[in-house]
Amino acid sequence: MSRLVIVSNRVSLPTERGARAGGLAVALVDAMTPGSVWFGWSGKRAAVTSEAATIVEHGGLTYATIDLSEADYRRYYVGFSNAALWPLLHYRTGLLDFKRDDYEGYLSVNETFADRLKPLLRPDDIIWIHDYQLLTLPEALRRRGVTNRIGFFLHIPFVPPAVLHVLPSAAVLVRALAAADLIGFQTHGDRMNFLESVASCMGVRPDAHHGFTHNDHRTETIVAPIGIDAEGFARTARRAAGMAETKRLIESLVGRALVIGVDRLDYTKGLPQRFDAFGQLLHRYPEHLRRISLLQIAARSREDVDRYQSLRRELDRKAGDINGAYSDFDWTPLRYMTRTVNRNTIAGFYRLARIALVTPLRDGMNLVAKEFVAAQDATDPGVLVLSRFAGAAEELTEALIVNPYDADAVADAMHTGLIMPLEERKARHAALLAKVRRTTAASFCRDFLAHLYR
Ligand code: ADP
Ligand code: F6P
Repeated sequence: MSRLVIVSNRVSLPTERGARAGGLAVALVDAMTPGSVWFGWSGKRAAVTSEAATIVEHGGLTYATIDLSEADYRRYYVGFSNAALWPLLHYRTGLLDFKRDDYEGYLSVNETFADRLKPLLRPDDIIWIHDYQLLTLPEALRRRGVTNRIGFFLHIPFVPPAVLHVLPSAAVLVRALAAADLIGFQTHGDRMNFLESVASCMGVRPDAHHGFTHNDHRTETIVAPIGIDAEGFARTARRAAGMAETKRLIESLVGRALVIGVDRLDYTKGLPQRFDAFGQLLHRYPEHLRRISLLQIAARSREDVDRYQSLRRELDRKAGDINGAYSDFDWTPLRYMTRTVNRNTIAGFYRLARIALVTPLRDGMNLVAKEFVAAQDATDPGVLVLSRFAGAAEELTEALIVNPYDADAVADAMHTGLIMPLEERKARHAALLAKVRRTTAASFCRDFLAHLYR
């Protein structure tokens, strides 16, 4: 069997697990079978970008990482990846901050990834590249004579051509990505948008199997929704009942219903809109005053990107406004924390919650939605309020599906969830759980790799 070489911007080192926020790191841990290699950025900045990868062997796996220079970090990661591609591919063209210099830095770091990875490769390795930070890596590897099978999975949405072309260099990126043999997407809509973009950027139309051929190279595409280790997460949530943090949370609630939100602190997650909706709930449904608490755990993320800093200030203000307007001397409606929390602790918190608010303005998949479902007690489950713009909404149709831009509708859904009879909660949860168990992290990896190994 060929060796699997995973490449992603960030590598989840075994020593750092437990509290990393981000769907990619969480899902890929499950893809790593013995013998696999994981290559990427260490997350560290150094005086210069590494000349060679640092290798760490752990538990039968090989982790190969490079550091980035400050200039590479700024141009490739902060600049083009997170101030241009990220907003663009989440349909936020108004936030797009394109700078030619950042774009060149992005191309150059993708070339560096190819240079540092190539010496580690064996002829029959299967290469699996992940996410928008590495769109041009497939072509960079091909130019270096790498003929291995190359797969690419996009964890975030893909936009239609009319949106894509707002980015000046869009066609270059699409052509470079097409050097992969297999490209995977979270939803059918994302794949359709990509194929339309291929037609627009490369003048090539897809065939009946959703693949296309360009310069004698065939590229296949696949829809492979990402998932979680549902059984494992459910076990973690059950065990968490005995944890000190869970007990402290229960005590602090003094019988009030818990509403929970868990997200990276990112403008795609719709947090200001969520706070507004919570304010609307308290305003329009006063029967819930003093009876509920919203716990929003938001992991600080990409703090060097300007828009993330302004989001944080906006949320501080909104949280203050809500608590200023509605708090009582012995009740604070909104508890807002800006840090990562241990995964086991989060699992226990989900299980306690009566409602989870997963209301992104746009999201590739959203694993929090799946984690919440997996963590519930099936005899008394909580209710998932889910944005129609999360990839997860394509599958999790038994959630209360909302438009996150409509604060009143989200407030109504929260109210519906809070008063929902047990039988309806159980029926919805059973249907959701069956789906979360079907599309897991393992099945995602299996499906994608089954296509790639062909
Ligand atoms: P994204 O990949 O955009 O961050 P996902 O919802 O797909 O979004 O994945 C987020 C992952 O990170 C989930 O596994 C979630 O539990 C975890 N996570 C999010 N916020 C936090 C936090 N504050 N502390 C710890 N883990 C978090
Ligand atoms: O899932 C989307 C994603 O951007 C991943 O590529 C990334 O690892 C994660 O979110 C967290 O973002 P970052 O690595 O920029 O902190």
